[in-house]
Amino acid sequence: MNDPKIIIALDYPASAPALSLVDRLQPGLCRLKVGKELFTAAGPELLDRLMQRGFEIFLDLKFHDIPNTAAQACKAAASLGVWMINVHALGGRKMLEAARDAIDRCAHRPILIAVTMLTSMGQQDLADIGINATPAEMVLRLAAIARESGLDGVVCSAQEAALLRKQFGSEFCLVTPGIRPALAGHDDQSRVMTPQAAMQAGSSYLVIGRPVTQAADPLQALLDINKEIVGARFIAP
Ligand code: C5P
Repeated sequence: MNDPKIIIALDYPASAPALSLVDRLQPGLCRLKVGKELFTAAGPELLDRLMQRGFEIFLDLKFHDIPNTAAQACKAAASLGVWMINVHALGGRKMLEAARDAIDRCAHRPILIAVTMLTSMGQQDLADIGINATPAEMVLRLAAIARESGLDGVVCSAQEAALLRKQFGSEFCLVTPGIRPALAGHDDQSRVMTPQAAMQAGSSYLVIGRPVTQAADPLQALLDINKEIVGARFIAP
């Protein structure tokens, strides 16, 4: 089966602009990420319309709650027929296990991944909330808890991918944003990697927004990125 590596971030406030972009893409070339903004505005109906067009969906709602509530939310998300969902690893082992158990019982089981540390959180932000560890230590620690709790993988920066790939093996799913084709601008992303470098660092899937959504020809941008990563494999550091 075709397994597109690119996940296009649909960062839009409503269905109409999202669908007009999607109508210029092809499901064999990418999956789609629907996050809090678009899902809050457009709801499950939009997911249906995207899936009717043949696209698989990463529903990026980053659930973080008491175990029962997070588990029920995961179950509800799974029932929408999406391909991938996520939770915050900071919800802790009990919440992660409850989420995993809930989707394991679903007829359609999406891939379940965890967010480790938000990349917007630096050393000082951790100190502020009483965590005496570096962001990198936290990422490793939370990824380990996610793995031990039976989750399928984590969202991480491509800079962290090589270490996590080495630590957790080839089956652990690493979903990496912050990707910029060699010739593209960086927008507001500071630590970026090219698509090929991110695949070689061990990424399983690349989340890409503006380099495709804002391109004059989004389909061509997507084709170019897919061409760049053909055959790109993890190169152990
Ligand atoms: O437009 P761009 O390629 O920067 O979009 C990246 C997408 O990945 C956005 O939806 C953004 O919210 C998401 N993301 C990110 N960095 C993270 C986690 C998610 O850029 N650490």
